[in-house]
Amino acid sequence: MLEVRGLFKSFGQSEILRGIDLTVEKGDVIAIIGPSGSGKTTLLRCMNYLERADAGQMVFDDVTYDMKLVTKKEILDIRRRTGFVFQNYNLFANKTALKNITEGLTTARKIPAEEARETGLRMLEKVGLAGYEDYYPASLSGGQQQRVAIARAIAPDPEVIYFDEPTSALDPELTKEVLEVMRALAAEGSTMVVVTHEMAFAKNVANKVIFMEGGRIVEAADAETFFAAPAQDRSREFLHGLDY
Ligand SMILES: Nc1ncnc2c1ncn2[C@@H]1O[C@H](COP(=O)(O)OP(=O)(O)OP(=O)(O)O)[C@@H](O)[C@H]1O
Ligand SMILES: [Mg+2]
Repeated sequence: MLEVRGLFKSFGQSEILRGIDLTVEKGDVIAIIGPSGSGKTTLLRCMNYLERADAGQMVFDDVTYDMKLVTKKEILDIRRRTGFVFQNYNLFANKTALKNITEGLTTARKIPAEEARETGLRMLEKVGLAGYEDYYPASLSGGQQQRVAIARAIAPDPEVIYFDEPTSALDPELTKEVLEVMRALAAEGSTMVVVTHEMAFAKNVANKVIFMEGGRIVEAADAETFFAAPAQDRSREFLHGLDY
């Protein structure tokens, strides 16, 4: 469904992604793990064109894009088919939970206001926030804000959803409620690419794991194999001592 080939990205003199190849199949839940600074966020941002790659190809359902030369229009086309959940939620502080969700539906997608509102309410219910439509982000907990952000990401029914450490700003209790929502999405068959330090989530929810270090993929495996017996010494070393 989605394939990235030969993705390179530098910031100034430092090469951050050094030739990434990966394939996402429909229904995959892919956990991207690895030490801090290994390029996980940069990879996700390049895949959603929040950063422009220096080289690379993306194949999205038989259409091939040059990730360096992709046009603004192509970026909008691709983004219409994807969702992105940020570490720090990125909600509009001056908009209610409902408005945060419906804004993109009514503006970018030209969905009529009433239909957008119905979708928004349905999405809030789906993430366990029925009744919270009129709350502003400041009066919601971090876990609730992140669930609004997830509701916003899934509202347009994207083909793939990217998550960049969606729970790393949350305490364990709130982490749990967000992971539960993500687990439910996965169970419904959503295609998800998740950068995470939550090894239990990677092990129990993801079907594939990508372990990155130094801008390269050290190991890509199905999750069961990866956690039972990683093929690379470096992966084993990384997992050693982690709780999962
Ligand atoms: N906009 C930028 N300008 C310059 N350097 C950047 C930029 N974004 C990222 N980097 C550098 O790229 C490297 C990889 O960063 P990235 O955020 O992708 O790592 P990460 O694997 O997501 O790490 P973490 O687990 O800490 O989130 C880091 O050395 C970082 O300093
Ligand atoms: Mg990161």
